[in-house]
Amino acid sequence: MKKKVLITGASRGLGLAIAKLLAADYQLILHASSPSSFTETIPGADILCADLSDAEQVADFCKQLKKQHGSELYGVINNAGLTFDNSIIYQSEKHIDAMMQVNLKAPIMICKTVMKLFSANGGGVIINMSSIVGESGNAFQAVYAATKAGLVAFSKSLAQEAAALGEDHNIRVLCVSPGYIETDMTANIPHEIKEKYLNMIPAKRLGKPADVAETVCFLLSEKASYINGTNIHINGGLF
Ligand SMILES: NC(=O)c1ccc[n+]([C@@H]2O[C@H](COP(=O)([O-])OP(=O)(O)OC[C@H]3O[C@@H](n4cnc5c(N)ncnc54)[C@H](OP(=O)(O)O)[C@@H]3O)[C@@H](O)[C@H]2O)c1
Repeated sequence: MKKKVLITGASRGLGLAIAKLLAADYQLILHASSPSSFTETIPGADILCADLSDAEQVADFCKQLKKQHGSELYGVINNAGLTFDNSIIYQSEKHIDAMMQVNLKAPIMICKTVMKLFSANGGGVIINMSSIVGESGNAFQAVYAATKAGLVAFSKSLAQEAAALGEDHNIRVLCVSPGYIETDMTANIPHEIKEKYLNMIPAKRLGKPADVAETVCFLLSEKASYINGTNIHINGGLF
């Protein structure tokens, strides 16, 4: 029987690329804000939707995840995220709350549920989607960067906490931090800024969703069983 893996934000971009790569080897549970968000169908995948900016929907999502898939869950990719780029002076509280809720609090609540399930199941892997800006910072992305930095500290702490659950629990918790990857999230960045990044990237190209998907696929596998509590950068050398 295939192991079950949840991917949040799997309707497009990085989440969809991860889902397409993992589909052959895992039984997928795919999440987006609504069933109508999905731009492609992954045959055989289960769909579980929730608006992660709404705390009540997150609580219900966690309940459904536990009820429908709890005892068979092996992996969780907390990938859903959003950004509202703006100067902090003009950033609305509504947008600050949405970024905090979707990028940080929802993954925390999902991890809270999943750590308990993994503890009962004897193990599992959590991969949280951070960002290069969580380490480097970025003008006009101060709140987004703060949420992504928070995810790194949270993931490292959970990996250490997992060890305290005892030797019979094989739980790994990781972060991945993409650099500039071509998806909807980066589609509206002005041409001149894209050119600026291109000149700064030693790999001399922007990242593709498959670059991130391949890394996630490896980290999820047994081949990565000694990689834990760390943050893996996928950025072509950009810093
Ligand atoms: N692209 C990059 O260069 C880059 C770099 C570093 C980090 N990242 C991170 O990688 C992750 C994926 O990014 P992406 O580029 O693939 O973004 P994307 O193409 O904009 O896709 C975002 C995904 O998150 C979901 N999502 C957004 N808001 C949501 C909400 N309120 N409730 C539920 N789901 C929600 C979307 O679902 P709907 O379709 O239903 O809206 C969608 O599936 C994000 O966490 C992002 O911060 C991206």
